[in-house]
Amino acid sequence: MADQLELPHQPNRRGSVVQEIARRRRESYHQQQLLQGYREKPTSARVKVAVRCRPFNQREKDRGAKLIIDMNGAMTTIQNPETPNEEPKKFTFDFSYWSHDGYTEKDDGYLEANPGSKYSSQRRVFDDLGQGVLDNAFKGFNCSLFAYGQTGSGKSYSMVGYGNNKGIVPITCDELFKAIEAGDKATKYEVTFSMLEIYNEQVRDLLSKDNPKGGLQVRQNPKLGLFYVVGLKKVAVGSYAEIDKRTQEGTANRTVASTNMNATSSRAHTVVTITFDQISKNEAGEETKKSSVINLVDLAGSERADSTGATGDRLKEGANINKSLSALGNVISALADLSSGGKKKVMVPYRDSVLTKLLQNALGGNSKTVMIAALSPADINYDETLSTLRYADRAKKIKNKAVVNENPLDKLIRELREENEKLKKQMGGAMPVAGGAGMDAAEIERMRKEMEEEIRAQLLANQEQMKDMDESFEDKLKRNREEQEAMGAAQANTQDRKSKDPHLVNLNEDPMLSGVIFHFIEPGEMTIGRKDANPPPMIQLTGLSISKQHAVITFENSEATIKPGEQGAKTKINGVPLTGPTTLQHLDRVLFGSNHMYVFHNPLNPKAPENTPSKIDWDFAQKEIAKHKGFDTASAGMSKEQIIAQEQILELLPMVSEVNAISEELNKHRTFEVILISGAAMEGYGSKKGAKVVVKMKNLLNGNTWLWERGKFMNRRYMIQELYQRHLDGDEDVMKIPKEEDPFWEPPEDVLIGTANVFLQSLSYALDFDDKLSVTDYKGVEEGNLYVNITPCSDKGKPLDEDFFVEDPQELLGKPFHYKVTIKSAEVNKAKYSKGLHVKYKVYQDDDFTSTPVIKATLSPEFKHHRIITYPAVNEDQLGYFEHGCITFQLYGVQEDSVNDNRLMKMTTKELRQMEQLQTPGMQRRQTISEASEESKLRNELDVLRKKFERLEKKEKRIQDLCSEWKTKPAEEQQFEPFWRHVSAVANSSGNKLKTRVEILNTMLKGQKMLRAKQSSDGSGANVIQAQNKSQEAGGAQNGSNGSINSGAGSKACVIQ
Ligand SMILES: Nc1ncnc2c1ncn2[C@@H]1O[C@H](COP(=O)(O)OP(=O)(O)O)[C@@H](O)[C@H]1O
Ligand SMILES: [Mg+2]
Repeated sequence: MADQLELPHQPNRRGSVVQEIARRRRESYHQQQLLQGYREKPTSARVKVAVRCRPFNQREKDRGAKLIIDMNGAMTTIQNPETPNEEPKKFTFDFSYWSHDGYTEKDDGYLEANPGSKYSSQRRVFDDLGQGVLDNAFKGFNCSLFAYGQTGSGKSYSMVGYGNNKGIVPITCDELFKAIEAGDKATKYEVTFSMLEIYNEQVRDLLSKDNPKGGLQVRQNPKLGLFYVVGLKKVAVGSYAEIDKRTQEGTANRTVASTNMNATSSRAHTVVTITFDQISKNEAGEETKKSSVINLVDLAGSERADSTGATGDRLKEGANINKSLSALGNVISALADLSSGGKKKVMVPYRDSVLTKLLQNALGGNSKTVMIAALSPADINYDETLSTLRYADRAKKIKNKAVVNENPLDKLIRELREENEKLKKQMGGAMPVAGGAGMDAAEIERMRKEMEEEIRAQLLANQEQMKDMDESFEDKLKRNREEQEAMGAAQANTQDRKSKDPHLVNLNEDPMLSGVIFHFIEPGEMTIGRKDANPPPMIQLTGLSISKQHAVITFENSEATIKPGEQGAKTKINGVPLTGPTTLQHLDRVLFGSNHMYVFHNPLNPKAPENTPSKIDWDFAQKEIAKHKGFDTASAGMSKEQIIAQEQILELLPMVSEVNAISEELNKHRTFEVILISGAAMEGYGSKKGAKVVVKMKNLLNGNTWLWERGKFMNRRYMIQELYQRHLDGDEDVMKIPKEEDPFWEPPEDVLIGTANVFLQSLSYALDFDDKLSVTDYKGVEEGNLYVNITPCSDKGKPLDEDFFVEDPQELLGKPFHYKVTIKSAEVNKAKYSKGLHVKYKVYQDDDFTSTPVIKATLSPEFKHHRIITYPAVNEDQLGYFEHGCITFQLYGVQEDSVNDNRLMKMTTKELRQMEQLQTPGMQRRQTISEASEESKLRNELDVLRKKFERLEKKEKRIQDLCSEWKTKPAEEQQFEPFWRHVSAVANSSGNKLKTRVEILNTMLKGQKMLRAKQSSDGSGANVIQAQNKSQEAGGAQNGSNGSINSGAGSKACVIQ
């Protein structure tokens, strides 16, 4: 029937569809205005803004992070760690909460302010913000509370809280019911609760287990002009405990969904909505309803993609990682402009994202709004924290117009009925037929359909609302309680069983989602796997790299054993791949597939292996995995840069294994790997950066490789996740995506084969350097040789006189100096680099790289490159460069999108990846965070010393010759005066003296010793780790994290060039 429905023909208007739509929009706007002005004048109030600064976390403490935030009264200051002498930037807000220090943890875990400290506890924050929300809700105002800030800054801590440190949301709900209890008995109070998540512009109902693919629809209510989520579950609640249970349910659903779908929880916005209605009689005896909608929003992490360096990426769309969050920023800016009165005609782009649609009222309309900006206090977060402060500063300019939402109940019901009748008529009426100018029939038809659908949806929503009005609140409450009872039993059961029965409990990157999912292990055999397995497994998991029969846990005599369920099923126990039956001990870490991480608890035998920390978190489990991949995880003795690099590795490793799993699933023939590469190797000498963490992508069909910086990888990863999500949603286009849009595809680019360093100390003694340098890749593997020469010369490039020798580098100061860099040739080991080779380098103060021409079709290219570098007068900096600096030569190979190997084409990505891993056994194990090559520096120093020594020897010999000459002369010719002049000339020119010679000799000996020691440890270093790993593979699983965390053995294993 619906298909024949026509929209009403309205002869008094020009009957185009477009005009009809425009008319409806106008009308809805006027109605909204009318409705808002119904009772009283709106109270115009600014958005209230609070900032809060959290304590340092463990990582920040370990790294010795510097505090960049300070608060004094209403003033918050932030110091740029790069410019410590500059004035800090100042901001003022309505509330400034110092929660960084000055507190004590009580026995129950609650953090309480020390006497006299400026610490703000959870209660204090509630007293200001939560209480305000409550008071306004009782008055009948809509209220909204947002938490903004980067991931890990404390948004969820403030909103929801952890353990006994309950946040604003639970305390507010608790207090709401206390106030209802103490309230007017003649008033009826009705509270409903809903919880949703916006991820990737899709809305998911967190109180529902089966959300439609693609999420719930968002529509605009034409009467109020506001947007709403179609079919969102709203539950009637009668106590705080009920809200608490529902919140737990929502959080558990969020956790399951994010684990199954490889979604990153920090990218999701969580919106809790509480409606609070008070029904009472007014003086006229009319029944009125005062209603307040309270929105509590925990926003997605605010970190911007470009802050991680994704700006250079070919594919930009992914940089807009969170459309909702950037739209929110634009809405806030527009509103701030409007409110500051400067610009009158500002279009507020609410329609740009799901979040801004749903929060339209909260942001620029009828609502009392509070924003809490969470600040990360550590130096490395400076950029993000400053951006948060600026955001908060803009938000405080926004003025809202809140009204008391109070209406006679009869009127509300009457209006609903009327609206319903009107809509029904419209559905039965005729459609306007004439199109607007330039519209063809197909377009008119499309718009007609659209409008029809809109009216139908409105009708449906309206009828839902009527039905809702018809059902008494008591009935709703009863319905909800019945539903909850069933669920509550399971929840209570979990609580009860936790202390009795063995179980797996989940770990998530987001602490809010950790410890939420429990799988109890029954006696006998328990199967774990995908739900489409036959027979269906007892514990069902979904997601990447989960096999049908993934694993089996047997529980007998208080002991659990785990084994793989089928060949190739990926499980890790304490970071070690599971290959056969292994005993599970209390607090062991179990990773199924790429992201189902659990901790095993065995209350029947609660003895954890020695050295197991009592509290195991996500970081610990990730470190352990990294360690078993061969990354150094000890932080003792590391520089700040190294610790940061280590943090980045730990952050990237799980992402890389996820992307690898997606590559396998979508058969993309790509493999990814986290590698460390020195700043010099990436950017040439002068890079102040230490070792840099990058991701290498390899095309498994033709061996081409690419190095992606962290930001670019993260950007691509989001796009890859999205692609995979579309694939899961059944979008067949995913398999046919054109390469230009494919996040796995990249045009071939030159690949960095390896680097070689020349230290310039010889120049400071005006000596030349001529050597065969070995070119090593980032893993320290030799890839070839480079023949270079660096010679002090005349301005025309003529080498200096053999005898020109500088005693003390200081002698060069203020004088002109020239040197010539010659790149003679190279030899490269791998045949695949014969497509073309060139070398790039930078010398001191060069902005750009100097490059040799590309030499093709050879593995021993002759570059014959010369360059003369001139200093008109050597200054201290340049001298410093000679004495301590080096030139990093980067050898690049040309890659082509060559024809893929047909034999390989027949293999799946999974098989190719396995083959790849077999070909490079143990290579990954040699990764370590280390400074630029000390060794080649030592070598250079020795070389200089050797040359200096040779010269001294020459001169010594000359003196000896003079002496013996003198001795052999007849006595009458032995004139002392000329002899002395001769000798002292030689001695002085050859510099000094015996003492220097002895010193040089000593240093030389020491250097040689060190070099020898180093070489021998290089040989065995890798073995040290491998041996250690072996012992863990053999017995490690039972042992938990046996042994201390790789205490420095790794750092000897290899030096990253
Ligand atoms: N004010 C605070 N006091 C103590 N710990 C805090 C505070 N704010 C945050 N934290 C801790 O910092 C970590 C990250 O906080 P969280 O609220 O989960 O961040 P976000 O939600 O912004 O990603 C958590 O372990 C949390 O306990
Ligand atoms: Mg959070």
